[in-house]
Amino acid sequence: MTDLFSKFDPLIEQRAALLATGVTDPFSLVMEKVLSPTVAICNGRETILLGTYNYMGMTFDEDVIAAGKDALDKFGSGTTGSRVLNGTYQGHKECEDALKEFYAMDHAMVFSTGYQANLGIISTIAGKGDYVILDIDSHASIYDGCKMGDAEIVAFRHNDVEALEKRLKRLPAEAGKLVVLEGVYSMLGDVAPLKEMIRVSKENGAMVLVDEAHSMGFIGEHGRGVAEAQGVMNHPKFEILRLVCRPYVFTASLPPSVVATAATSIRKLMHGSNKRAHLWENSKTLHKGLQGLGFTLGTEEPQSAIIAVIMPDLEKGAMMWEALLEEGLYVNLARPPATPAGMTLLRCSLCAEHSSEQVSEILGRFERAGKRVGIIG
Ligand SMILES: Cc1ncc(COP(=O)(O)O)c(C=O)c1O
Repeated sequence: MTDLFSKFDPLIEQRAALLATGVTDPFSLVMEKVLSPTVAICNGRETILLGTYNYMGMTFDEDVIAAGKDALDKFGSGTTGSRVLNGTYQGHKECEDALKEFYAMDHAMVFSTGYQANLGIISTIAGKGDYVILDIDSHASIYDGCKMGDAEIVAFRHNDVEALEKRLKRLPAEAGKLVVLEGVYSMLGDVAPLKEMIRVSKENGAMVLVDEAHSMGFIGEHGRGVAEAQGVMNHPKFEILRLVCRPYVFTASLPPSVVATAATSIRKLMHGSNKRAHLWENSKTLHKGLQGLGFTLGTEEPQSAIIAVIMPDLEKGAMMWEALLEEGLYVNLARPPATPAGMTLLRCSLCAEHSSEQVSEILGRFERAGKRVGIIG
């Protein structure tokens, strides 16, 4: 019998070696209680959260919570069916209506997760014989969408417009081409030069898909993302995908309480300019502060709500992660294959609900932990 698990042996060994240093396992933390968008109890200790996707901090908003409770009472805990059968409730339509209004678009489709949205859209529109041209640092869900659709994958150097253009020019003129980009790249928090990339894509007959997972609500005048900030919003028509997109059709739709909370958040974010301004302040303060303390960051300037602190290696990264947790600060420890160029990162994601005092506190905790672990002098 071939041991099908043997391919994981190197990872098992690497993990065992890391844990043998005595460091806490950074990938099995439990949030024992969550007190607010920015504070949780971890290992019995009150901890500031600096590693969530809660950029706009809507998770404890009163109206959002009330909408979720109401939907739970009125529609039950789940839909028990696909969107194209029994799983489209009033709330799913309301969530799509809120998205259409938020983005000023004619169409919107809500998938059960962002991962499935990428799997579904990419695999359905780019199939055998087509080309998907993507940034080498694209999210796993983008790569998986390409594999599922059986399109030819052509990767280009991260955020490099010339490299994209060169790749496009080498492809057959008549072939179907989809360029897939992200507004903000989730590991380093850097922004794509969408305007230039969309120009060269169009010049070379390619359609463009932009994943704005890390920019929605925050970047752009109305929070519509990097595409809005760089003036390249466009209106596709994709209603037919509802019938042919497998990760949309062959899965249960989101529970009523989830679409209700999402729709309420989206509608409130239409009036979120104060939150956006405060989040930019937080991002600038943290970036400047960490740079001042001597940490190496993923970007020269703050470009989004994500600030990546580059660690020398996984072992030191895990030690620093643990030291921060002991200080009462949670960040994401990110490592390959999620990270570019084999880097180990402490990925910090700010929230619009972090107070200025919390940001100062975060800097103090980074300073103490960084000195203790020997990352800074
Ligand atoms: C760029 C990008 N797209 C998609 C996803 C997946 O979204 P979800 O967590 O909703 O499945 C992520 C991260 O989770 C991401 O970083």
